[in-house]
Parts: sequence; structure tokens; C-alpha cells
Amino acid sequence: MTLITKPDTAHSRALVDAPGMAPVAIAKPNLMSVEDAKVLDVVKMTDLFKAHLNPGQLHFMKLLGFHKIKIERAEGMHYVDQNGRKILDFFGGFGSLALGHNHPRVIEARKRFQDEKRHEIGIAFMSQYASALAYNLAQISPGDLDMVFFGSSGSEAMEAAVKLAERAAGPSRPKIVYAENSFHGKTKGVLSITDGALYRGEFKLTDNTARVPFGDIDAVETLFRSDPSIGAIVLETIQGGGGINQAPAEYWQKLRALCDRYGVIWVADEVQCGVGRSGRFYAFEHYDVVPDITAVAKSLGGGKAAMAAMIARRDVYMKAYGTPKTAMIHAMATFGGIGEGCITAIETLNVLYDEGLIENSANTGAYLLERLEELKAKYPKIIKDVRGKGLMVGLEFHDFSQTLPMVLRPVVSVLDDKLKGSLSGFVGALLLRDYDVLVAFTEYNRNVVRLLPPLTCSRADVDVLVAALDDLLGRGIVSIVKDFVKSQVK
Ligand SMILES: Cc1ncc(COP(=O)(O)O)c(C=O)c1O
Repeated sequence: MTLITKPDTAHSRALVDAPGMAPVAIAKPNLMSVEDAKVLDVVKMTDLFKAHLNPGQLHFMKLLGFHKIKIERAEGMHYVDQNGRKILDFFGGFGSLALGHNHPRVIEARKRFQDEKRHEIGIAFMSQYASALAYNLAQISPGDLDMVFFGSSGSEAMEAAVKLAERAAGPSRPKIVYAENSFHGKTKGVLSITDGALYRGEFKLTDNTARVPFGDIDAVETLFRSDPSIGAIVLETIQGGGGINQAPAEYWQKLRALCDRYGVIWVADEVQCGVGRSGRFYAFEHYDVVPDITAVAKSLGGGKAAMAAMIARRDVYMKAYGTPKTAMIHAMATFGGIGEGCITAIETLNVLYDEGLIENSANTGAYLLERLEELKAKYPKIIKDVRGKGLMVGLEFHDFSQTLPMVLRPVVSVLDDKLKGSLSGFVGALLLRDYDVLVAFTEYNRNVVRLLPPLTCSRADVDVLVAALDDLLGRGIVSIVKDFVKSQVK
């Protein structure tokens, strides 16, 4: 296969457009086949990424060493690269791999579905698969969270949640409250309640929003009391991108009471912390409260399908879309409730309970926190904090930019302004290079390593991670930075 010359489009257009001439043939462009794609090597992959995907992002891929790795297979807790190296996955697809990579039951359900030539599109006729998945989610969800909308990304589920809240609140209450350091997606609507200057950029966002510090109930109460135009409040139950931030049970209980008192609709974004991640199916279940609307995605698709769902209280849903006249305002998109996505999610939810993965998340998560606390006690000058719930854990380093020897500071800042003062980038790159362990970072707090492994994670996996971290941190900050710098010039 040759890369990659486009056919002479002017010539083919002339053929088609010539007056009086019927189109004679459509030349097949120089397309790659599936087999071509599988055998691309790292150099060609990098070239194509640069040419067609995101040239700027390549910079970060290189800093982390991703450009040297081609993943050939993935199973359970591990990726396997082109050299047969097994990489332990504590990144977990940002929380989308609750079942691990390629869970056999999910693969089997999907194969069977295809072999039986089942239909996919859920909006012509009624879909038995979408109906069953909606039923399952209603069974799992507490209170009267009974009405379900399907999409294919967390952003889409959150868009649906915000639109529903706005319609149910009514035109006199269009204002939406969101939290500092929130992340609800990058699509245009939810960007207005995503609190990242980088992502918001210079886009024209809606101005019917108000921002509060996360976890500050007095700020919420003051806003609700002073502004009757507030109709909804949108919060991640555990902030992921913000750095694994939690609020105490008391906060959520007071929030529920305030929402009831002022008639404000509470939207709980569980896209990252939901589907068992925190040690309960929904993180809000830890606090004995039920929101009016919630959203899940990521692991709902079992690591194999792009599935997301918004789940709402029936009275809220009916108020907004409950009549034939209003029902189509926000009916599902073309691929909403797609067949294979739904059966993948149905099997995923069954596996989650059959294999006790939510309990495992709680238990192994507690063990992970315990082991990281030991490391914190051993390296108090490096580790600032360890926090999380279940297998949603953050490891925060002290900002070391001011403690680094003067001679290293310019090198680090030249390398990347973003990684400056952020040990997590260096630690992540070296964990991968030297210990075959993959971790993630958080969007807003670059000093936090984010750990979102599959919920199949065992104590032995935790021990591997902790031993790697222990060995790496034992080198000391200066060596870590120097080793990172060396890894960039190799
Ligand atoms: C809390 C939260 N909400 C929404 C989203 C958006 O989900 P997606 O990337 O699937 O659009 C994310 C993604 O990381 C998230 O963490």
C-alpha cells in the first residue's frame, strides 16, 4: 500500500460534470483497508496523526513517550505493545474500562448479536435493546430516576441533562449554576459550564450561568436566595478533571434540601465517577441523596462501545417532554440507543454485578489509598495529598518548580510550559518508560496523577504500581527531572 496521494479530483470532477455526459465511473480513492490499518508502524502512525488528526497534540504524545508505542492487543488490566511488552493500565481510558480490556462476556455478546444479524438503528421501529437497557438503568437508579435518554458520549448525555433541566425549570428560570474546576465536556452547550479557561477559549458561551466554589454550600445558598432566575445546578459528584475533589456528605444533603426549598433542579454528572467507579454504582449513593437528573457514560459501554445515558426523575422528564407535542423536541439522535451499543451496555451492567466489581472497587480502592498513604509518609516532601473513593484516586505532588536547582529550571520550562512545576508529567512518563505502568493526569491540576484502573484491579496490581512509584520517587526530584530530560533527547 502506498501512502498517500489523493487522486486528481479536478480530473474526476470534469468527467462527472461535463455537460451532457453521464458519470461513467467513480474512481476509488487510495483507501487503506482494515488490514492496512492494523499493520501501520509507529512512524507511519505518527505521520498520519500529524497530517490528519492533531499535530499540536503530538507534542504531548512525545513528552509522554506515546509516539514510540503501538498497542497490538489489550486484555484485562494490560495493554500489549508491538514488542510484546505488557503495560499495566492505571489510566483505564479515563474511567471507561470498568470491566478491563476486552472482557470475554462482552465480546461474546457482541459476536452473537452480529452473527444473528440483529438490527442497529433504534429510531425506526421500537428497539427491544434500548428498552431493556433503559429498564436496567431504571432498576439500578434509586428513587424515581426512571426516564432514560441515550447518546454516544458523556458530553451528549450532559447536553441532554442541561436541556431537560432548562425546559423543566421553565423560561423564567434559565440560569444554571456550576462549580469551579468543573468538567462537563467540550461540546458547545456544556462548554458554558465547564470551568477551564483553555477549553472555553474565546468561544461565545451562554451568559445564563453562575459559578460557585466546589463544596461550598453557603455560596450555593447565597446564590439561590438572591437570584430567583436560577433553575438548575450542575455538579460532578466527585470532580475528575479538577483533581479528584470531593465534598462531604453534609454538603450533598444540604444541597438536596436547598434544591427542594428553592425549586432548583440538581443535575449530578456521574460520567466519570459513576458505573461503580467510586464503590457504589453512583457516587451520590455514598451520601444518601438522589439528584433530579444524572448522566453516565464511559464504562457504560464496557470498554467496547460508545454509550452514554441521561437518567431523570419521571416528573421532571414529563414536565419537559411528556406530551406528543413536546416529545420530539429532544428525541434521541440517529445513533441514540444503537443496537450493539445497548446490548454491550446490558451485558456490562450484568457483569458488573455478577463479578462483584463495585465491591471490588470499594475494597481495592481502600487498599490503594492505604498504600499511597504509606508512600506519602515516606516521601512527605514530594507527595502532598492522596485522595479519592473506590478506584477513582488522585495522587497530588507538591509544586516543585520553586525548589528545583536554578540550573534545571530553564530546561524544564523550555520543555513545556504546561509541565513546568508539574511532577506528575515526569513521573507519568518515567513510570511508562521504566516500569511499564500507565497513569493519567487531571485537566486543571497538573500536579495530580489520576488513577482510574479497571474495576477488576487486584491488590497485586496495586502492589506493582506502588513498588514502581516507590522506586521512582526514591531517585529524588532532581534525578527524576534529569531522567525525564534524558528520555526526551534519546
Ligand atoms: C465528569 C465528566 N463529564 C463529562 C465528560 C465528557 O464525556 P465525553 O468525553 O465522553 O464527551 C467527561 C469526560 O471526561 C467527564 O469526566
